[in-house]
Amino acid sequence: MQLDEYQRRWLEKPALRAVYGDLHRRMAKASMPGPSLEIGGGIGNLDAGNSDLLRMDIQRSPGVALAADAHRLPFASQVFSNIYLFDVLHHLQCPLVFFAEADRVLRPGGRVIMIEPGITPVSRLLYGMGHEEPVDMSWVPDEDCELNPDKDPYASNQAIPTILFKRSPHLFRKADASLRVVDSRWLSLIAYPLTGGFKSWSLIPAEWVKPLLRLEDRLLPLIGGLMAFRLMVVLEKE
Ligand SMILES: C[S@@+](CC[C@H](N)C(=O)[O-])C[C@H]1O[C@@H](n2cnc3c(N)ncnc32)[C@H](O)[C@@H]1O
Repeated sequence: MQLDEYQRRWLEKPALRAVYGDLHRRMAKASMPGPSLEIGGGIGNLDAGNSDLLRMDIQRSPGVALAADAHRLPFASQVFSNIYLFDVLHHLQCPLVFFAEADRVLRPGGRVIMIEPGITPVSRLLYGMGHEEPVDMSWVPDEDCELNPDKDPYASNQAIPTILFKRSPHLFRKADASLRVVDSRWLSLIAYPLTGGFKSWSLIPAEWVKPLLRLEDRLLPLIGGLMAFRLMVVLEKE
């Protein structure tokens, strides 16, 4: 799907915007004060309540200020308090290279705040049926990862965040970065899959989103590991 298609769906789907609004607020809550960078900003829809936010993406778009690669951040060291990624880590070719770069450009105490697909028994079933992006749970990070400049920016493996932060956290620790995990939690049980994401359909009116999310907050600690669709991860630079 192209960026203008994403933009059209975003405007057409109030229930999706309501679900994302809740996720954006969680990212805002986890943020530190100070200048922030969004990587993979796409259409520029992230609202993390941060007035000093620079949006970048590997693709040029009216929604971002800068076209650059997450693996080679064009910034001096220790300049940002937050780095946001929404559905981006699982598109990166060399996640460990990215974490070393994030560590370099973050100030001490700065944070990487990510919301990504979460792979649980139920989400795996549904992502497997209705989603064009693969889920390969056998992935391991390549420590000598070489960047392919011709890679499709949407090529992905939805399993990467779950492998690095839930299933095999020792693999994340191979990154040459002093980033510690301060939060890694399952999110999104029912409302998000019912919106259909950026697909053309939605099975939920926007007014149902708020009460459903309140119910989800109660259920997540009990059944998140079984049927959540998303993972939120917060890393902090030592
Ligand atoms: C699924 S989209 C998410 C867009 C947006 N964050 C959102 O939530 O709607 C993934 C984005 O990551 C970007 N991306 C992929 N590889 C990247 C890289 N190496 N560096 C920066 N951005 C990248 C893509 O161009 C795309 O805009």
